Amino acid sequence: MSIEQLAETALAMVAPGKGIIAIDESNATIKKRFDGVGIECTEENRRAYRELLLATPKLSDYISGAILFDETIRQSTRDGVPFAKLMADNGMIPGIKVDKGTHALAGFPGEVVTEGLDGLRARLEEYYKLGARFAKWRAVINIGDDIPSGTCIDANAHALARYAALCQEQGLVPMVEPEVIMDGNHDIDTCYEVTEVTLRSLFASLYEQNVMLEGTILKASMVLPGTTSGDDASVEEVAAATLQCLKSTVPATLPGIVFLSGGQSDEAATAHLDAMNRMGPNPWPLSFSYGRAMQSAALKLWSQDIARNVAEAQATVYERARANGLAALGEWSKAA
Ligand code: 13P
Repeated sequence: MSIEQLAETALAMVAPGKGIIAIDESNATIKKRFDGVGIECTEENRRAYRELLLATPKLSDYISGAILFDETIRQSTRDGVPFAKLMADNGMIPGIKVDKGTHALAGFPGEVVTEGLDGLRARLEEYYKLGARFAKWRAVINIGDDIPSGTCIDANAHALARYAALCQEQGLVPMVEPEVIMDGNHDIDTCYEVTEVTLRSLFASLYEQNVMLEGTILKASMVLPGTTSGDDASVEEVAAATLQCLKSTVPATLPGIVFLSGGQSDEAATAHLDAMNRMGPNPWPLSFSYGRAMQSAALKLWSQDIARNVAEAQATVYERARANGLAALGEWSKAA
């Protein structure tokens, strides 16, 4: 796989006015989401729900690709079309979550490291054959009393860089996701500092592991006050802090940055992205790779009648995609 092909895929992922829908919840996480709305977490319900999302009419107007979970990339529509083919036929790039989740970091209470490097080369080879053209690995950085430690940040950055190098070797664009978690009573300045140190460590590790930035996408968290801090930051404050933090840490050669929603409300996630793009021009396209902020409204609607509410739920997915697509251009307004 040439760097040109990786770069082409990366640029297509952040094409103007388009972003990613994250539907890569593990079976444990989707069970939590289904439990929340009273849906039984069976394999068929998971399949039907992912079909609803991926088959949303005209989704590719605003969606360049979707991140799938291992089970999902092996599933098909009710009519027998593999999801990866359905996506490719509709002009969307299949992606795959390849990390194996977070585990306690030995010797560092309250901190976690993401696992999944063992056997990764062979798994990536298979995912490429199944149609995936990009992959995602999520690291989790918690903020609390005396955490994060430098050890935790560096261990996660090292794993992200090892994963990214393997992805590129196998022809997949790595989406590197170091998520600084919103939970906690920290202020916005603390989130800024932690995000800055995390990104510095990540890009140093990517460099050390010979990762080609031209074929890499960053999935970033926004700079926000902790959810239990009692602090309120304006949309402009969040946008300005996030942009400044990214500009001081992320090389301009990166083809694009997409954001996670991380538990923000649907509207806040959209408004923050829109504000950052209005503050441009920026060194890279800024778009979205939202999970909850793309799906919550649709899941709620679908759960009320899973046989009948498919079209209605798809209409809300399309609306969320449209709002975020406009925000990726800095052209969203509340009424839009
Ligand atoms: P959220 O947008 O719900 O945070 O999910 C995005 C994601 O893929 C987290 O890894």
